[in-house]
Amino acid sequence: MGRAEKVVLAYSGGVDTTVCIPYLMNEWGVKEIITLAADLGQGDELEPIRKKALTAGATQSLVADLTEEFITEYAFPAIAANALYENRYPLSTALARPLIARALVEAAAKYGADAVAHGCTGKGNDQVRFDVSISALNPSLKVLAPAREWGMSREETIAFGEKCGLELPVKKSSPYSIDRNLLGRSIEAGPLEDPWNEPLEEVFLMTKGIADTPNEPEYVEIGFVQGIPTSLNGSDLSPVALVTQLNDLAGRHGVGRIDMVENRLVGIKSREIYEAPALLVLIAAHRDLESLTLTADVTHYKRGIEETYSQLVYNGLWYSPLKNALDAFIQKTQERVTGTVRVKLFKGTATIVGRKSDKALYTEELATYSSDDQFDHKAAEGFIYVWGLPTRVWSEKTRQG
Ligand code: ARG
Repeated sequence: MGRAEKVVLAYSGGVDTTVCIPYLMNEWGVKEIITLAADLGQGDELEPIRKKALTAGATQSLVADLTEEFITEYAFPAIAANALYENRYPLSTALARPLIARALVEAAAKYGADAVAHGCTGKGNDQVRFDVSISALNPSLKVLAPAREWGMSREETIAFGEKCGLELPVKKSSPYSIDRNLLGRSIEAGPLEDPWNEPLEEVFLMTKGIADTPNEPEYVEIGFVQGIPTSLNGSDLSPVALVTQLNDLAGRHGVGRIDMVENRLVGIKSREIYEAPALLVLIAAHRDLESLTLTADVTHYKRGIEETYSQLVYNGLWYSPLKNALDAFIQKTQERVTGTVRVKLFKGTATIVGRKSDKALYTEELATYSSDDQFDHKAAEGFIYVWGLPTRVWSEKTRQG
């Protein structure tokens, strides 16, 4: 008896997930493997990947274009939440995992599989995100993670694959571990494992180094409707086109790089390089528009919600009751977050230089220092008396000893 009969395997075309195919069949007695390659805008050619899975022994090889739902159902809600893990990482990898999990679970239902599988190792966050998301969507499905158990080094993995008749690329492999999708890239390992080492220019793909950026600033106006980005420079764009164009624009000015040591859920600190040009600009612009359109108390309360939300997403709890409840709160706050934000891109910085909204709560007659001022200055006196009363009483009492 094998561990499962029929398995849907998340497939990237890389060495690990390719070796998973003969490993699942030969070592774990799986009879049928359906691979699923997800298109998340990572820019891979998927037809060769689809064929490669069949050559490696898959009985069926599926390719799913998930790009649009990735942006509308995963990225846009995260932007509404201004989601930044540890105040910096915009979750570009983390957001993809629950979507891939959903596609795996749907394929398992459609093709009658009793398990799904992924190629994550036991050290990262991604295994947690897959396992927890899959069990939230279908608790009766088995989840197989061969790379978490096989204990093979890179060389052993390749040797195992070759023994099973796979033709694995002998191309000099990069020292880095890279994950990529339309929202960004994450780069770890190799020389980056020493947090003191500055990343070499070779790790970046979506963003230019400052030396190669234009010497003139460029402005971009981002339009939002109820918290959702809908236009660039006045042209309405589809969600995917908007993110793609903004990636190019911001990346060209060297905007979107992050270098940080972060805390993984599994207890390890890891040094990570990210580039996520569009996502970072969109979050900054969105937060700015909120400052114009939300009341002070909602803005302040939402900051705490955003922190919790970012942790939940990072920690694999996309499909969870608390996340659902926070989503409902966030969505309610977005009703008036409609307007335009003007961003200046220049030499690695994205600076918000203007914002406007028909729904603005900002009131010039109240804010102005000119003679148009409508604010009742006399009212301030009574307010300050009441506001400061507890402090005054405290001061008097403590002086009395
Ligand atoms: N540290 C990031 C995260 O946890 C990126 C993980 C990258 N994953 C990968 N398989 N290389 O979201």
